[in-house]
Amino acid sequence: MPSRLPDYDALLAISARGAWAPETFDLAPDRVRWDALPAAVRARLRGLLAGFVVGEEAVALHLAPFEDASASPGLRACLAAQVVEEERHAHACRRAWAAMTAGPDGAVADPAPEAPAPLVALFRERLPAAAAAAGHDLTGAVALYHGLLEGVVFLAGQQTVRALAERWELPGLLATFARIERDERWHVALGARVLVDAGDGREVAARLRDEAGDAAAAWGALVDADVRASVVAAVTRRLTAVGLLDRAGVAPFPV
Ligand SMILES: [Fe+2]
Ligand SMILES: [Fe+2]
Repeated sequence: MPSRLPDYDALLAISARGAWAPETFDLAPDRVRWDALPAAVRARLRGLLAGFVVGEEAVALHLAPFEDASASPGLRACLAAQVVEEERHAHACRRAWAAMTAGPDGAVADPAPEAPAPLVALFRERLPAAAAAAGHDLTGAVALYHGLLEGVVFLAGQQTVRALAERWELPGLLATFARIERDERWHVALGARVLVDAGDGREVAARLRDEAGDAAAAWGALVDADVRASVVAAVTRRLTAVGLLDRAGVAPFPV
């Protein structure tokens, strides 16, 4: 099977080089600008940040069963390194949410009611169910976690946050999300590595491709249609490049 993917040692080395602290990025100038944003832009960014707090907290919480289900020491080491990064992302997103949305008294609202309901369902219902089943379907669980939630939902949201942060000059938010997105690249590669090595990887990848459009739509109107389409096209390209989908992007197995 063709594969240009790094192996577990190379993925671990990427993680080891990439430690960072969310506090490095000053959010105070962003807050000043945030208060002056047009209400519609602020509401959109608020929904995106709320979704990221829910999403990153969930992926940090539900990765341990994947580690337990993995027979490969290399994969277990990568997953252990990933948990540390997901906890950092959750912290960075909570920090951004608090910095942008705290009231004059410092009170911070619960982000979950402000996140799109389909996204909350993906991270708080579907992900825990898949994690609980990882012991007998690690490939399917990885396809959901690394392929769909990180490789489609997060990517579509990150691109949108970055574009808005650039357009409205929010440097701390831009740097925070660019840094998170950089980590997610090796997490997505790790998921593809698992699928490439799995006996049922091609079958699972075809299902992942079929679900990508609906997953990207979980953000609703917070993410533009062109961003959704480009993220879905990118996941198909990635899966094809590593041999998990046939060249035409058609299902790899005749039915
Ligand atoms: Fe993350
Ligand atoms: Fe991740």
